[in-house]
Amino acid sequence: MSLKGKNILLGVTGGIAAYKAANLTRLLVKEGASVKVVMTPAAKQFVAPLTFATLSQNPVLTEFFNPENGEWHSHVKLGVWADAMIVAPATANTIAKMANGIADNLLTTSYLSMRGKVFVAPAMDLDMYAHPTTRQNIEALKSVGNIIIEAESGELASGLNGKGRMAEPETILKAMSDYFESDKPLQGRTVLVTAGPTYEKIDPVRFIGNYSSGKMGFALAEAAAEAGANVILVAGPTKLTTLNPLIKRVDVESAQQMLDACSQHFNDCNAAVMAAAVADYRPAVQAEQKIKKGSAPMTIALESTPDIASTLGKMKRPGQVLVGFALETENGVANAIEKLKKKNLDFVVLNNATEAGAGFNCDTNHITIIKNSGEQIDYPMKDKKLVANDIINQILLLLTPEKQ
Ligand code: C5P
Repeated sequence: MSLKGKNILLGVTGGIAAYKAANLTRLLVKEGASVKVVMTPAAKQFVAPLTFATLSQNPVLTEFFNPENGEWHSHVKLGVWADAMIVAPATANTIAKMANGIADNLLTTSYLSMRGKVFVAPAMDLDMYAHPTTRQNIEALKSVGNIIIEAESGELASGLNGKGRMAEPETILKAMSDYFESDKPLQGRTVLVTAGPTYEKIDPVRFIGNYSSGKMGFALAEAAAEAGANVILVAGPTKLTTLNPLIKRVDVESAQQMLDACSQHFNDCNAAVMAAAVADYRPAVQAEQKIKKGSAPMTIALESTPDIASTLGKMKRPGQVLVGFALETENGVANAIEKLKKKNLDFVVLNNATEAGAGFNCDTNHITIIKNSGEQIDYPMKDKKLVANDIINQILLLLTPEKQ
């Protein structure tokens, strides 16, 4: 579960335990990870690249340059792509190179380009493993933040008995998923998110609505759940779906229904993000029967809907974080600051309704976060999923342990 959607670079070096790396590849793929395999030249003597290519469903990378198709394998791109790298088996030779920054093949060079966590599963004969130089190299790898999955004891390929057998693929998998599990800063917290438009009934077949797609709110719900939060997603009418089991979805139609759902859950929440485009007005009277067409012009009397963000702002306890959105067509910053104060928000996310690629019904957004401390952060235009991560990160800064 915790490796679902993760990009994992598996580095295989030239040891007999390379055969176990084939099983590791299969387990990683089964856990939902995307796996790319990079092999040292010596590793190819033990297991054919075709085995890894078949299991990972990706071409195996062995050389910087593929003379057959003229393709250049960029270690830099691999370093950016991977959420984590696992070197399994890691021979004494590769460990020594990694510890000293030697970059003489695609595996060791990719290691130096890695932005994500690096795991190392050594495998070698017992004397090599116990040698002070190897121990020193392993310590050096640990000291720069790599995670060593120590070798196990047992019968070794040499026929000797001792410590040096590569950890079993299941053990390696567990170490990796434990790492990603602990990378859940919102674990144990509950986040309420509103999303989508509201529909305000005119008569049984007509309503007042708006063009909100719900994409921003759904991306926020996914981002909060990814960070480990239990999410209550109160969604207006939208075609969007959610997959993460941490998201509990409550479907509503009108502003009043959205308010009822939010008031019911807000007390149990650590944070609430009001991303819904709630109608400001609704018909004062809902016709019970379909309104008939007539020749005279017609008017619909409107009344204000309840303001959900303001209501929650009044209920807010110290330590709860409340975030609102401001979708403006003019005087953005001034209007956003006014909303922030009026609704008792901790910060407001400002986006411009007239800017191409921002606001309603598109996949990207361009936001400025304005905090009640006065601080303003301007972000570049990004995919809504990445914008959601930025917003969740700002919430995390406010959810300090003493403010829970
Ligand atoms: O006042 P305005 O509608 O521009 O404020 C926008 C913010 O307030 C958004 O976060 C929106 O979800 C929230 N809102 C609300 N209830 C309303 C109107 C807006 O929660 N009735």
